[in-house]
Amino acid sequence: MLPKTIQTNCLNFTLKMYSLLRRILFLFPPERVHYLSMNGLRLICRIPLVKILISRIFATDKNEYSREVFGLQFSNPIGLGAGFDKNAKYLNELEALGFGFVEIGTVTPGPQPGNERPRLFRLPADRALLNRMGFNNDGALVIAKRLSDWKSSQAGRKSKMIVGGNIGKSKLTPNEEALKDYEICFEALFDCVDYFVVNVSSPNTPGLRALQEKGELRKILSHLQSLNHQKPRPRPLLLKIAPDLNFSQIDDVIEIAKEVGLDGLVAANTTLNREGLITKDQELVHQSGGLSGKPLCQRSTEIVRYIHEKTGGSLSLIASGGVFEAEDARKKMEAGAIMVQVWTGFIYEGPAIVRNILRRF
Ligand SMILES: Cc1cc2nc3c(=O)[nH]c(=O)nc-3n(C[C@H](O)[C@H](O)[C@H](O)COP(=O)(O)O)c2cc1C
Repeated sequence: MLPKTIQTNCLNFTLKMYSLLRRILFLFPPERVHYLSMNGLRLICRIPLVKILISRIFATDKNEYSREVFGLQFSNPIGLGAGFDKNAKYLNELEALGFGFVEIGTVTPGPQPGNERPRLFRLPADRALLNRMGFNNDGALVIAKRLSDWKSSQAGRKSKMIVGGNIGKSKLTPNEEALKDYEICFEALFDCVDYFVVNVSSPNTPGLRALQEKGELRKILSHLQSLNHQKPRPRPLLLKIAPDLNFSQIDDVIEIAKEVGLDGLVAANTTLNREGLITKDQELVHQSGGLSGKPLCQRSTEIVRYIHEKTGGSLSLIASGGVFEAEDARKKMEAGAIMVQVWTGFIYEGPAIVRNILRRF
């Protein structure tokens, strides 16, 4: 470990540097910046000792943050939400930045390019992002191979970052055949992920959210759970829901989650709601896609609280939506979340986000 004062100075320096760097990065298209930054990080992590130094500054090996959730040992409760590392390409670098877990995907059976660009927009005044990526990913087989190579490279290591697999259906698959897509992804990724999240809540795949309807949801989840239970070591199975469900729809989800024996829920995905935004550019605000970041924070906490109270804590809840600082994470935990995920906060707060949340926890 680095001495505490050196670590704190390095963190404060990174924070200052990132607020400068962000001004420059935000001059360029967000999707290009995303890949540029992650590829840059990957490159510098290849320099001997640099990855170790980065993880000494950003990661923590304090046992006080570790916890067991649905039978898995997490080094800390701050994870990275799905959609950031869709293709499982940056796991080493994300681990060095201190994430306790990363949810890869959304993975679909075959590769798909996603929607036309531009498809990711910043709303800095609202500390938000708007995206209509459309499940661009390399497909289940390629991602499974990449993951299993990564897993082999981790063999024998003491601390291991948990990797969740977020699975979805292809754009071209009609809803009646969606079950098959989920099954293909589930089987392909089974040996290389620690837990699964079934995604029926992204707003950018036509018709996907209709799968949140009771009958469809029951069919998909009970099928996956029965496949799961045929395995010698079943994986924790979770569902990711949309923040735009009303409470009666959430009641339906809870009923099915209990019936099928889900291990937990991820609440929530991006929202279609545009109320209360202060961004003046109305053309930007009304682009199609899902909104994430600060405007989603309160709604996602509200959903977590509602589900926690309704279920008496019997479902593990991972809160996603507008987590930027320790205070946001704490509120979600107080509402009943067992862990939180960041995404938009990572873009606005920078690489020290996990460390900063944990040290003020
Ligand atoms: C550009 C982008 C792509 C995303 N892609 C996915 C995805 O493929 N699957 C998914 O379940 N969620 C996806 N999400 C949603 C995030 O995982 C997260 O639930 C949401 O952004 C709310 O968290 P945040 O406010 O911290 O960003 C995406 C979000 C963004 C901003």
